[in-house]
Amino acid sequence: MFETIITKMLGIKYPIIGGTMMSITDADFTAAISNAGGMGILASILYQTKDEFAAAIDRIRELTDKPFAVNLNFFPAQFPVSQSEYTEVMIDKGAKVVETSGHGAPPEELCKRFKETEMIWIHKCTGLRHALKAQSLGADIVTVVGYEMGGATGKYDLGTLAVVPTVAKGISVPVVGGGGVVDGRGLVAVLSLGAEGVIIGTRLLVTQECPIHESLKQALINATELDTMIIMKTIATHRVWINNAATRCAEIEASGAGFEEILNIVSGDNAKKVYFEGNLDAGIVPCGQGIGQVHDIPTVKDLFDGIIAQATEVVTGLAKS
Ligand SMILES: Cc1cc2nc3c(=O)[nH]c(=O)nc-3n(C[C@H](O)[C@H](O)[C@H](O)COP(=O)(O)O)c2cc1C
Repeated sequence: MFETIITKMLGIKYPIIGGTMMSITDADFTAAISNAGGMGILASILYQTKDEFAAAIDRIRELTDKPFAVNLNFFPAQFPVSQSEYTEVMIDKGAKVVETSGHGAPPEELCKRFKETEMIWIHKCTGLRHALKAQSLGADIVTVVGYEMGGATGKYDLGTLAVVPTVAKGISVPVVGGGGVVDGRGLVAVLSLGAEGVIIGTRLLVTQECPIHESLKQALINATELDTMIIMKTIATHRVWINNAATRCAEIEASGAGFEEILNIVSGDNAKKVYFEGNLDAGIVPCGQGIGQVHDIPTVKDLFDGIIAQATEVVTGLAKS
């Protein structure tokens, strides 16, 4: 029932893409998502050298024979890497699917390289204008995420219900939609809006295989739909879990703080203290509004199987009513 253009193009069992999560979607977690029937996306920005990046691709291949993707990051980064060099590593390693995300589309030269090497290129964005641009540069798939999402929400502040159908109608390449999807009901909703697949980030934080600290998983389970907030409007708007770091960031932004001061709070090093040491107020944690519906810590496989089972039930129920 849930075979779509996306599952066929990517060769995956379920129309579920695991969203890139900086510091979190490493080789092992990416492979776990792919092994569970979705498509995992390796966050290449995690690796500061080409050799480490190449080794991460090898590691995924040791762990799974299923398709996976690699994200090239075009957001401002504390420790940027060369996207063209990393693309060549992907080509050498035979990695077939590239996802780009960030402020704007990748440089044209890079897009040409994706095309001439026959990679499947997915571009992630938050609105129609960027989707059209990516399509004009040759993107094979466009992912669009609504304002409910965890992470960088973009400039349009458009909810998933508004942005997914707009983009699905406005471009001709297949669309993956997300922002707030945590279960089978969300999957059906997003497919019914014209998408051919969903992207899920926040829900995957609270799974057995996700490498974050147990106390963060427990805190997220206890969070409600009211426990996220928007910060960093002046740099790159982000939806995050409300903790001391997030509220401090909002306070200093309101009093006119500049980039350096904000970075002191939102740096990747601080975030890692939350993720991996369980120091819950040390930094920010991107988190979507869907967290309010997350109440357990399943394996990724159980999560995805459950999403598909619930989606099947929903569709069957709607057909009967
Ligand atoms: C903890 C976390 C980190 C994220 N990091 C990135 C990132 O580095 N790059 C990126 O393109 N998207 C990032 N995202 C966004 C996800 O890839 C995905 O688009 C989003 O989570 C989907 O919405 P949802 O959170 O409502 O499921 C992140 C999301 C979360 C929750």
